[in-house]
Amino acid sequence: MTTVESRRTPGAVRDAERWTAHNYHPLPVVVAEADGAWVTDVDGRRYLDCLAGYSALNFGHRHPTLIAAAHAQLDRLTLTSRAFIHDQFADFCRELAELCGKDLVLPMNTGAEAVETAIKVARKWGYRVKGVPAEQATIVVAEGNFHGRTTTIVSFSTDPEARDDFGPYTPGFRTVPYGDLAALEAAIDDTTVAVLLEPIQGEQGVVVPPAGYLPGVRELCTRRNVLFVADEIQSGLGRTGETFACDHEGVRPDMYVLGKALGGGIVPVSAVAADSDVLGVLRPGEHGSTFGGNPLACAVGTQVVRLLRTGEFQRRSAALGAHLQAALRDLVGQGLVAVRGRGLWAGVDIDPALMTGRQACERLAERGVLAKDTHGSTIRLAPPLVIEKHELDFAVAQLAAVLR
Ligand SMILES: Cc1ncc(COP(=O)(O)O)c(C=O)c1O
Repeated sequence: MTTVESRRTPGAVRDAERWTAHNYHPLPVVVAEADGAWVTDVDGRRYLDCLAGYSALNFGHRHPTLIAAAHAQLDRLTLTSRAFIHDQFADFCRELAELCGKDLVLPMNTGAEAVETAIKVARKWGYRVKGVPAEQATIVVAEGNFHGRTTTIVSFSTDPEARDDFGPYTPGFRTVPYGDLAALEAAIDDTTVAVLLEPIQGEQGVVVPPAGYLPGVRELCTRRNVLFVADEIQSGLGRTGETFACDHEGVRPDMYVLGKALGGGIVPVSAVAADSDVLGVLRPGEHGSTFGGNPLACAVGTQVVRLLRTGEFQRRSAALGAHLQAALRDLVGQGLVAVRGRGLWAGVDIDPALMTGRQACERLAERGVLAKDTHGSTIRLAPPLVIEKHELDFAVAQLAAVLR
């Protein structure tokens, strides 16, 4: 055991706060190493990671297949820019397109960049294919959305923390209540090029829309000649027990927006996937990114797609997720007021009379479990899909103890 004086954590926390903008409020845990579902801090304490990098670590920390692919690629070629083609590019794009059941993909780096890509593609599709008059395109989005942090994306956020003081805002977005088909239908007109939605709203607290909503959105978009753009950056790639959260309702959007786990927890990799009548609207020079689709990203991303093709992670998420959701529901009335989720992804609302979500996360960390609060008294649990059942039981037991 380290004594308080010999602990490295307080100094490391102080240094981090001294030298960075305070755009995050991290828990006072300074991670030094990680393996699978566990991380170890600079003082040698171990924590079960129940956030998994907001689902960027679906395959756990340092999955051996992904690490091996990264190492091998580091020894061969890391960056070319898109000015040239490299030998990892085609395989990644083809295999990801096939996983999505789409003709084409466009790789980028961060989630927000992929969302921006989707917005640009939808607008251009609107002008060139649908025939929307110049500068008139509208995109319908949902209240409570989270799609990233760029100036355009925060323009249609309904979260004052994300949006206030960052105007002037980008026009062209209409906001409707999430889960309300009638409101969505009313918001669509001849200028509408896309409906952009998370199939489950992660940052909002893992909010699952009512059954029938996503098929209803699909039907409406088809009927009104509007693109259904599904932001599966957090919900996709096995998190909910299917490859995509849309799969639960048999829905195929016109465009998938992917990120986070696509980079295997190693490099930022994002992408949009769509058929050629949509993604084919882009011409050279109209969109791009120096690092998008780089060799290291593609080498790792290809292995991510292959891991997903086995179906193992989706199956684990479905089976263990059912166990997790049931165990959490048992805590409703014992300190929790609500539990939502799908697969290994849960949003739990703590009785606000007991403590805030932040306090709950601090107490969980003291007990060796890492999770993250969102919006007051809600915390999110999104462990790596490699987690074992007994480890989930450990996490739920710690939550129960914190609530007691
Ligand atoms: C649904 C969704 N879209 C977009 C993003 C933005 O991704 P990034 O932080 O990689 O830009 C996030 C991040 O949490 C997200 O959850």
